Amino acid sequence: MAAVCGPQARLMEQRAAAVAPGSAALRVPARAAPAAAAARQVAAPAAAPRRALRVAAAATTDAPPVQGTAHNNGGGTRVMIIGGDGYCGWATALHLSARGYAVCIVDNLVRRNYDLQLGLDTLTPIASAHDRVRKWGEVSGKHIDLQVGDICDWEFLSQAFTSFKPDAVVHFGEQRSAPYSMIDRQHAVYTQSNNVLGTINVLYAIKELNPDCHLVKLGTMGEYGTPNIDIEEGYITITHNGRTDTLPYPKQAGSFYHLSKVHDSHNMHFAARAWKLPITDLNQGVVYGVRTEETMADKALINRYDYDAIFGTALNRFVVQAAVGHPLTVYGKGGQTRGFLDIRDTVRCIQIAIDNPANKGEMRVFNQFTEMWSVNDLARIVTTEGSKLGLNVKTINIPNPRVEAEEHYYNAKNTKLQDLGLVPNLLGDAIVDSLLEFAIEYKDRVRPELIKPAVDWRKSPVTVATGTAAVVKQ
Ligand SMILES: NC(=O)c1ccc[n+]([C@@H]2O[C@H](COP(=O)([O-])OP(=O)(O)OC[C@H]3O[C@@H](n4cnc5c(N)ncnc54)[C@H](O)[C@@H]3O)[C@@H](O)[C@H]2O)c1
Repeated sequence: MAAVCGPQARLMEQRAAAVAPGSAALRVPARAAPAAAAARQVAAPAAAPRRALRVAAAATTDAPPVQGTAHNNGGGTRVMIIGGDGYCGWATALHLSARGYAVCIVDNLVRRNYDLQLGLDTLTPIASAHDRVRKWGEVSGKHIDLQVGDICDWEFLSQAFTSFKPDAVVHFGEQRSAPYSMIDRQHAVYTQSNNVLGTINVLYAIKELNPDCHLVKLGTMGEYGTPNIDIEEGYITITHNGRTDTLPYPKQAGSFYHLSKVHDSHNMHFAARAWKLPITDLNQGVVYGVRTEETMADKALINRYDYDAIFGTALNRFVVQAAVGHPLTVYGKGGQTRGFLDIRDTVRCIQIAIDNPANKGEMRVFNQFTEMWSVNDLARIVTTEGSKLGLNVKTINIPNPRVEAEEHYYNAKNTKLQDLGLVPNLLGDAIVDSLLEFAIEYKDRVRPELIKPAVDWRKSPVTVATGTAAVVKQ
């Protein structure tokens, strides 16, 4: 494949420079994470060093299968999981591997680098990507291929496609924090270039190398915003001046991150029409929970759990706050309502999407959430369940760092995945109890200074001060 050159190379250079936030010590381009940088250095002419980056989990065929996960309905379907070292991606990789899919993780490990840049850390001590896949091989007897590199690097991505030959690509591999994208101009530019250009490369990889490959792409319910009408699943039928058409549902995203997903959706819609690609866009709600059957099979398989103000999501944050005696931080009036789902349903939804592929030329949209809750609802549930465990849980309303409606109509449709067989794990008392117990187990690792909001939408660029690092104002 031709090396990247011309305008694209310039864009990629700008992109690498754009991610360098703050002080000299932190001025590390995202793609200079050790493994990702190594991938770039070896990507160009020689094929041989690239093999060094592919780590096969030690597939010991006599290893016992993980209890209760040995269904073989994957039938060897080859699934490339881009972003497979992240929160949703890791759980999905193991879920599919346990069920007989042939899995390849593609990740540049940049999520780990964001933590290094900002001085953040996951609640749970996670093993390195390489150790994780090796351990999975020992525990399950299943092989996971790990390819470390950046999907914005066409040379790397096209080689990964050519060598693995996926039947389906699940694309989680984006910068996924709204506050991160709102830190300053550099982080906004990085987020949109990483996400939008990465996805365009994936679309070209499918078109040019494997046009039958089904793309399952993670979008977000946040693309829709909070319109004063029901939210449909991707499309809405409108009659205007006597004529009727079914059109993409209007998007009103609330951050440069959410907007990157809107741009992805438009690009995918175009690629499905122009090149007859089969595409599923999963508008996912806010994910909570951390335990899946496979990630709990060994300490080295444990998933990441973000509770800080930049990467932590609502319920996961409240649970940690309750566990350490920090008041629950409700932003503004707390009437913000969103779709939520358990991480055990994320992995099932992905499996359902793979097993029921979109048609060629179809850009199918599923709203991937199971329940709608307001922030105040979540605070009430955590308070009630916390008190049953002897925790004295208080709530404070703090000025909302985001620009969003705090009281609004919200009714989003979510029937398509359930029509295909999703049986949701709903947010019952037992789930919250078990989340609280999990957070209590790891509470000594909590750094309370990471909890309070660090990024204000109205004040960008902002100084992000964390325990050990800062992104300084330009
Ligand atoms: N977590 C949620 O609540 C949630 C909600 C809605 C949608 N989503 C979407 O689901 C996807 C996964 O979310 P997550 O919480 O697992 O995020 P995450 O940050 O934990 O994982 C993303 C992974 O992608 C990798 N990545 C990023 N850019 C890459 C690149 N250019 N090349 C290769 N790898 C790259 C990162 O290193 C990371 O491992 C994201 O696209 C996100 O927008 C997540």
